[in-house]
Amino acid sequence: PKITYVSADGDLHVVDVPIGTSVMRGAVGTGIDGIVAECGGNAMCATCHVYVPAEHAASLPEMTAVEDEMLECTVAERRATSRLSCQLRITEGLDGLVVRLPEAQE
Ligand code: FES
Repeated sequence: PKITYVSADGDLHVVDVPIGTSVMRGAVGTGIDGIVAECGGNAMCATCHVYVPAEHAASLPEMTAVEDEMLECTVAERRATSRLSCQLRITEGLDGLVVRLPEAQE
């Protein structure tokens, strides 16, 4: 599935991310700055924070209490559209997903 990452300055990167990995993994190691993912995907660092435009929110997995709590620790402002990208598992249904990267992660 193709995921589009929009940097804080508006640069677009489209990545074909393998099913079963995460939106975070699709950015880390593919030259996209803006996702740090210090904890390696365990919902323990909040440095994989992304904003998901409202029109895409319905295709996302539900937020767990752990993710909700960790989103209180983001460096950039938390918004209604905030998610931790390591908690967004890639499925066929996420094809075409757009995520916006915050200005800062740490
Ligand atoms: Fe640490 Fe997502 S990578 S919370």
